[in-house]
Amino acid sequence: MKKPMPERWPSSLGPVICVVGARPNFMKMAPILRAFAAHQPSIPTLLVHTGQHYDRDMNDKLFEDLRLPHPDINLDVGSGSHAVQTAEVMRRFEPVVDEKKPSCVLVVGDVNSTLACTLVAVKKGIPVVHVEAGLRSYDRAMPEEINRVLTDQVADLLYTTERSATDNLAREGIGEERIRFVGNVMIDSLLSNRELARSPAACLQAAGIDPALVQTAQGFGVVTMHRPSNVDHADVLASLLGVLREIAQSLPLVFALHPRTKGNIERFSLGHLIDPKRMIMLPPQGYLEMLGLMANARIVLTDSGGLQEETTALGIPCLTLRENTERPITVDQGTNTMVGRDFAAIRFHAAEVLAGRGKSGRLPEYWDGRSSQRIAADLAAWLIERHSPN
Ligand code: UD1
Repeated sequence: MKKPMPERWPSSLGPVICVVGARPNFMKMAPILRAFAAHQPSIPTLLVHTGQHYDRDMNDKLFEDLRLPHPDINLDVGSGSHAVQTAEVMRRFEPVVDEKKPSCVLVVGDVNSTLACTLVAVKKGIPVVHVEAGLRSYDRAMPEEINRVLTDQVADLLYTTERSATDNLAREGIGEERIRFVGNVMIDSLLSNRELARSPAACLQAAGIDPALVQTAQGFGVVTMHRPSNVDHADVLASLLGVLREIAQSLPLVFALHPRTKGNIERFSLGHLIDPKRMIMLPPQGYLEMLGLMANARIVLTDSGGLQEETTALGIPCLTLRENTERPITVDQGTNTMVGRDFAAIRFHAAEVLAGRGKSGRLPEYWDGRSSQRIAADLAAWLIERHSPN
């Protein structure tokens, strides 16, 4: 028989350590923390920030926009090679786990911090809970794919965003008792912040750029690129900027530039490929700014994972500048089209969207703004069930 939910959280059951490290973690963790606090009884949490992202634009601004609490602990690891960054997170996270004695460690997504904290916890016998489990690009050259596969193999509870993720996990031999399909917590954030989105004109103004550039009848498109495969090689980055420059002649494009991309445009001396009247370069945007830009765009061109899902939820056509996606539901049901680095495909699909023939898609199952509540209810029951006071 299942144990009943107590009125108060057992004092002998430690907090849930919730880990964030990099930008795409923040919009996933914010609704989870709120759902844990609202659960009856409330689930105690401890927010640990590894410090993988640390710039104001990449970090503080998003914390404010998402109304995330100040982290209880910041490990301040900063940037480094994959090995150094992962190792440093592990080295600094271990004493936190020793001291705080958590009931479990909850990680989200697929960044280096996700895997690093998972490895520390699991080797100490602390249960690991992975939110956004089971996504697979089947491209092992992507660091995120390695992080996903390894995290899922050792995590105790796996919450999935789409049914294909559940199938992927089953194929990897993960027992179904460990897997729960709950929907997409990132869409919880999007739906609860939709009304607060900032206007695109305000985003330009904040960067000291004439807002009239996006206030024309024809509208604008939005671009983000940061994957090493797209921006770390001069010839690839130059070709991508070239094709985007062509599209920009028909539709002004607003870029939200990741520091890696900005740095590489300078390092490879590619500034001349940017047409300043048609390609508007903004720094990394806050959450509410990005939401406003995407929601008002005619098209989004991106290599991000999260934007593929957010554009599907917003009904905005998205062209993904990658050869594969770990989020196939955005293609099958949503507004996403994979174009890779096939320049003919990029030109063709962009023209289709501009001619009004873009995908409009539909909202996938359980992308309903309640995924975090499902996780809170399920995790609380799971922890109480396992807990035997002595
Ligand atoms: C990380 C994630 C990626 C995610 C992306 C979102 C991994 C493997 N990758 O990639 O999945 O899509 O975040 O942004 O975890 N930098 C700054 N300021 C910062 C952070 C980084 O200037 O606050 C610069 C540094 O030069 C750093 C580089 O960006 O070396 C890359 O940062 P890193 O955290 O290693 O990976 P991302 O490319 O941001």
